[in-house]
Amino acid sequence: MTIVTPTPVRLDLAERSYDIHVGGGLLTQAGALARPLLKLPSVFVVADETVATLHWPVLAASLEAAGIAHHLYRVPAGEGSKSFAQLEQLLSAILDTRPERSTSLLAFGGGVVGDLTGFAAAILLRGVPFIQIPTTLLSQVDSSVGGKTGINMPQGKNLVGSFHQPRLVLADIDLLTTLHHRELASGYAEVVKYGLIDDPDFFAWLEQNGSAMLNGDAQARIYAVRHSCQAKARTVAGDERESGRRALLNLGHTFGHALEAETGFSTRILHGEAVALGSLMAFDLSARLGLSPQADLERVRAHFDAVGMPTRLPAIDGGWDVDKLMAHFAHDKKVDQGRLTFILARGIGKCFVSQDVPEDKLRALLADWSAEAVQ
Ligand SMILES: NC(=O)c1ccc[n+]([C@@H]2O[C@H](COP(=O)([O-])OP(=O)(O)OC[C@H]3O[C@@H](n4cnc5c(N)ncnc54)[C@H](O)[C@@H]3O)[C@@H](O)[C@H]2O)c1
Repeated sequence: MTIVTPTPVRLDLAERSYDIHVGGGLLTQAGALARPLLKLPSVFVVADETVATLHWPVLAASLEAAGIAHHLYRVPAGEGSKSFAQLEQLLSAILDTRPERSTSLLAFGGGVVGDLTGFAAAILLRGVPFIQIPTTLLSQVDSSVGGKTGINMPQGKNLVGSFHQPRLVLADIDLLTTLHHRELASGYAEVVKYGLIDDPDFFAWLEQNGSAMLNGDAQARIYAVRHSCQAKARTVAGDERESGRRALLNLGHTFGHALEAETGFSTRILHGEAVALGSLMAFDLSARLGLSPQADLERVRAHFDAVGMPTRLPAIDGGWDVDKLMAHFAHDKKVDQGRLTFILARGIGKCFVSQDVPEDKLRALLADWSAEAVQ
């Protein structure tokens, strides 16, 4: 069978290199694309339960057509599944099927299922291969690429995990048609991030095409997802373990994780919404520190407004508390020798890592954002 897809993006990591396919109709080709990479013609599929209900029959037919046996395991939707309890249940279910070291896992869902499955693959039998079929915009442009896997702990997000690269990533943009608009907009924060970090032309493209992309324009989706995967692949290839440039991908995340922690990792603020707000806070802080023009902050805010992304904190019971947000920063895994790490900007497309943020400026920023929360 001849497969016609746009040229895949390649993530170059020597013997751990892999292809990232981006396009429409990829789910029907998943079996044929995966088959050459499998030592055993069998996969253990870990699927988000919502995704399984909507899309499993197509994936199952594709695997069967390629002669790949499969076992389906459904994971409850939501961040709560990135837990030790869920990981244990999953590992136990896989072990019941008597896996071998060449047994492959296949993650079929958003970032939650991808992170959980990837971590299970990293530690099962000291490491088995896995494939990512990301089904949300966020997971297609970010979490499925680069090999960061893990779960959350009561103390914070992603605090237990491992680097474990997938063997293949299939980002089928057709899957995005069933995604709730709020989830789509949340994932868009990670798309904009690539423009804000070091690609002002991409940011300008998004200003022109972002709304069309969010409203379903397939060509715009393929372009934006592919461009994002290229950016991520380039960054990871140069710094797999985040000892340098990869840290820039955390733009908005130190703030964002604190917002998520303060709202109990609930749907009050989705991960991408927290990243969007965190990115704006980073540009605001940069402007206050005299590093970045105020006009660039306003331009980012105007774009978020134009595509319906949040630009102010939502009101929460009891209000936002600066001390609590500061305490969440202290738990961030990017704390280095006791110093907080932030990604700041000298303008759109000019981000850099900083460990020199004065505490008084940080507190003033948080106080202002808290006071302006949407009622
Ligand atoms: N590993 C990394 O490098 C990395 C990077 C960024 C984010 N993340 C992690 O990703 C997670 C967030 O991922 P997410 O935003 O994809 O959330 P998610 O996996 O929770 O999915 C969001 C929601 O969309 C539903 N859904 C998924 N695909 C669907 C589809 N095609 N149609 C309809 N509904 C669908 C899910 O059931 C869920 O309710 C966070 O845990 C975050 O920490 C990891």
